[in-house]
Amino acid sequence: MSALLELSHVSKGFGGVLALDDVSFSIAQKELVGLIGPNGAGKTTVFNLVSGVYGLSAGEVVHRGVRISGSSPTRIARRGIARTFQNIRLFRSLTVFDHVLVAQTCRSRGLMTQFSPFATHAEAERRRQALDALEAVGLVQRRDEPAVHLPYGAQRRLEIARALATSPEILLLDEPAAGLNDTETGELRRLLDTLRTRGYTILLVEHDMKLVMQLCSRILVLNFGKLIACGTPPEVRANQEVIDAYLGVAN
Ligand SMILES: Nc1ncnc2c1ncn2[C@@H]1O[C@H](COP(=O)(O)OP(=O)(O)O)[C@@H](O)[C@H]1O
Ligand SMILES: [Mg+2]
Repeated sequence: MSALLELSHVSKGFGGVLALDDVSFSIAQKELVGLIGPNGAGKTTVFNLVSGVYGLSAGEVVHRGVRISGSSPTRIARRGIARTFQNIRLFRSLTVFDHVLVAQTCRSRGLMTQFSPFATHAEAERRRQALDALEAVGLVQRRDEPAVHLPYGAQRRLEIARALATSPEILLLDEPAAGLNDTETGELRRLLDTLRTRGYTILLVEHDMKLVMQLCSRILVLNFGKLIACGTPPEVRANQEVIDAYLGVAN
């Protein structure tokens, strides 16, 4: 299994806190991998390092054989790595559709698309991709509503649409089911299943163990910045260290 994304001996310190401590793992193309662990374990930090929000203290992140640690968030996004945020951040005055368009600008090549003769074509293409993304998450009918008016579960799906609109190959999803009720979680499960079928490679941070166990082919477990386990759902569920650190309290 060749790696699409690989973290090698990655560490990240914040002052005195070692948020990640010598973490290594890889993800193959089209895998849906879960990343679990208690609060403060370092899950979001993994996303911040892979997406280039923070620099690493040690180690490297490699995408398709190219070292991406040290690259800017924009360059990393252009390579096809998109992420969502644990906390939804919406603009008060923007519609659902505009949120997706704004998210896309990070991948369009600014001046070139704005001032070239292809600008109109590029703009039309951007709008088509934005509509496709909204279609994928079931929000195309609500595209003209202010995003803040959406129910919470729909806002979380909009987060995913914003990532999808950049035409990524890798999706880093940070707790997409947080705060969702059972119906909304069911909708999210179907969406993630669809995205997997469509061939996206997904790294899913999530506390909803039922969702993680149902969807993921492999699960990585972090505890205090260390990767303590990696395996199939049954392997992880039976791992005593994981039970002690996390599953015992999560379930
Ligand atoms: N920007 C930051 N500045 C200082 N400490 C941080 C920062 N981001 C994360 N941390 C610390 O790193 C550790 C891991 O945090 P995080 O990756 O957010 O955990 P998780 O997402 O697993 O809950 C925590 O101790 C957290 O307080
Ligand atoms: Mg987090």
